[in-house]
Amino acid sequence: MRRWTNLALFGLLGLAFTTGWVAFFYGTAPSRWSLIVHAASGYAIVALTPWKAVIAAHGIQRRRPGWWASLVFTGLVIASVFAGILHSTGLLLAVGPITAMEVHVGAALLAIPFVAWHVIARRIPVRAVDLSRRSLLRAGALLTGAGLAYAAGEGAVRLFSLPGSTRRFTGSYEYGSLQPAALPVTQWIADAVPAIDPASWRLTIQAGAAIREWSYGELLAFDDRVRATLDCTGGFYSTQDWSGVWLRRLLESSSSPLAAEGRGGAFSLHVRSLTGYDRRFALRDAGRLLVATRLGGEPLDPGHGFPVRLVAPDRRGYWWVKWVTAISIDELPAWWQVPFPMQ
Ligand code: HEM
Ligand code: HEM
Repeated sequence: MRRWTNLALFGLLGLAFTTGWVAFFYGTAPSRWSLIVHAASGYAIVALTPWKAVIAAHGIQRRRPGWWASLVFTGLVIASVFAGILHSTGLLLAVGPITAMEVHVGAALLAIPFVAWHVIARRIPVRAVDLSRRSLLRAGALLTGAGLAYAAGEGAVRLFSLPGSTRRFTGSYEYGSLQPAALPVTQWIADAVPAIDPASWRLTIQAGAAIREWSYGELLAFDDRVRATLDCTGGFYSTQDWSGVWLRRLLESSSSPLAAEGRGGAFSLHVRSLTGYDRRFALRDAGRLLVATRLGGEPLDPGHGFPVRLVAPDRRGYWWVKWVTAISIDELPAWWQVPFPMQ
């Protein structure tokens, strides 16, 4: 049972980690499916506590080198699971500017070097018996139990009308919808808000050999509108009215740009911010990406991307590039990028 417990924990940590990121990657249905597996794997880790406690007590008694690092790792896993449950139930969503979701993901990220060290320093040989019928039945029972625990947890959140019952399928909470002033300002990891002079700012649109620069005034003349939901990976979402111009229109006014579209699809839209932050989109998305100059009918403020930001409906917030300065079509495919930006 000891070896099995450790191996099961290994698999579950990997599963929780992967499904968490898959959920962040999507702003559509796959996010929810992934989160169901995610929550169940989290509960399964908790369910193994009694067995793991025996293993850990034994290890601590032996005072193996680095045993304290295992305690730090334990602390991080507990913090992550605890913050995850605080978020999902809605019992505590934020302390000051730090959200429970940020603590949840932050603790999981900090745990990575520790888990790597732990499984190397305390490695266990994998044997054929680990795939025995008995081991697999145990794993099945554990996952079924964890799935039921998830369903019971969700049921309880609704039964007691905890704040968690109002969250979106991505797990995010509504915040300041249709009240532009209440839309929080957040950046992916470390981007700082730049000060931009609209008089000298230009948006460069490049499609093949054609390059066209747009001034702020020219872009303000467009009034394409969309009501879209910004779903931030920090754990909130907000539905707002945005206006500006559909990217497809800008591309089309820079001479035969979408000709590339027909050529096998290995082309993408590369959207860049003044800060160096960037994201790639499939070319076919051009008709659904709004180059936004206004939020709720008013010019954007610096924190929300002044002078121009991207509005990418059905995508998580980190795709909504702010302070856009350049958009180009190039020959790289849209998947040719890190799934999550590094800055
Ligand atoms: C939720 C995840 C886990 C936590 C919180 C955890 C925590 C701990 C703690 C506190 C100890 C005792 C201190 C020490 O000996 O370093 C320990 C020992 C140990 N852990 Fe883990 N661990 C986890 C996952 C794993 C995994 C995935 C493996 C293996 C693949 C593993 C294998 C071991 C082994 C072999 C020992 C030594 C037991 C002994 O010396 O008798 N652990 N663990
Ligand atoms: C050690 C790794 C992790 C464990 C054990 C873990 C476990 C959990 C648990 C137990 C919950 C509460 C689920 C519920 O009660 O419904 C949760 C929620 C959540 N986790 Fe994780 N998690 C881990 C890492 C991550 C990572 C790396 C991400 C994102 C990149 C993530 C994203 C989420 C999200 C979005 C929720 C909210 C789900 C909802 O409210 O429906 N988690 N996690």
